[in-house]
Amino acid sequence: MVAGINLVALRAVCVKRRSKLILGPVSLDLKGSGLTIVLGPNGAGKTTFLKVLHGIERISSGSVQWSMAERSVRRTQSYVFQRPVMLRRTVRQNLAYPMKLLGQQASKIDEHVIYWANQIGLTEMLNSPATRLSGGEKQKLALGRALIRKPKILFLDEPCANLDGRSTREIETLLLSANSSGTRIIMATHDLGQSRRLATDVVFLLNGQVHEQGPAEDILCSPQTSEAKAFLKGEIVE
Ligand SMILES: Nc1ncnc2c1ncn2[C@@H]1O[C@H](COP(=O)(O)OP(=O)(O)O)[C@@H](O)[C@H]1O
Ligand SMILES: [Mg+2]
Repeated sequence: MVAGINLVALRAVCVKRRSKLILGPVSLDLKGSGLTIVLGPNGAGKTTFLKVLHGIERISSGSVQWSMAERSVRRTQSYVFQRPVMLRRTVRQNLAYPMKLLGQQASKIDEHVIYWANQIGLTEMLNSPATRLSGGEKQKLALGRALIRKPKILFLDEPCANLDGRSTREIETLLLSANSSGTRIIMATHDLGQSRRLATDVVFLLNGQVHEQGPAEDILCSPQTSEAKAFLKGEIVE
């Protein structure tokens, strides 16, 4: 992927559930590089938006056009859900699983598992059951499991919701490092501080609509719409 080139184009995308419009119409382009923060209060449509991009939410109308071949789109993406789902096995087996699915050799899998366990600070826990990990450790494992596949695009849905400051900082460090090694990141959050620390560009969502989109410094420092201004001032926006 080349910086500046469009990655994906959404045109008039709508998602309806029980005849209620929960997202859209959304039309926007995302660029090929950077770390996009999808920002907005609870219920704004952030999760739905990420799922539409990843192709796991059915759209009612509109189109999602990727710049890469259709069949390679999903294979090059990883998605970290808001509540990580662990295999009821060890940390080692959880990390190895995505590589096994890709049909990698056992020796290569071992090497990568050891590397990533170290990156996420879980080397000591490699043989512990994943279900016994703390919330922060589970989220780091979910991130390790996503990154071990070297995705071109990584989606994260509020990965630090419910985590303490230390776990949040560790996850943010991993994300910035993955991003600077070339992984395109698209991440939902309602946390303004996190947006300021991480974003290169921002999509501000409210009531299923994109109210603003652009470079982080524009949106976070001088928002144009009254809705974004209110949200950035910390007011309750519905
Ligand atoms: N399966 C569903 N059926 C009906 N409404 C839904 C469903 N999923 C989400 N919604 C509604 O769609 C809106 C957007 O939800 P969501 O994308 O989860 O927002 P966010 O992630 O920003 O909190 C919310 O009003 C939510 O109640
Ligand atoms: Mg959500």
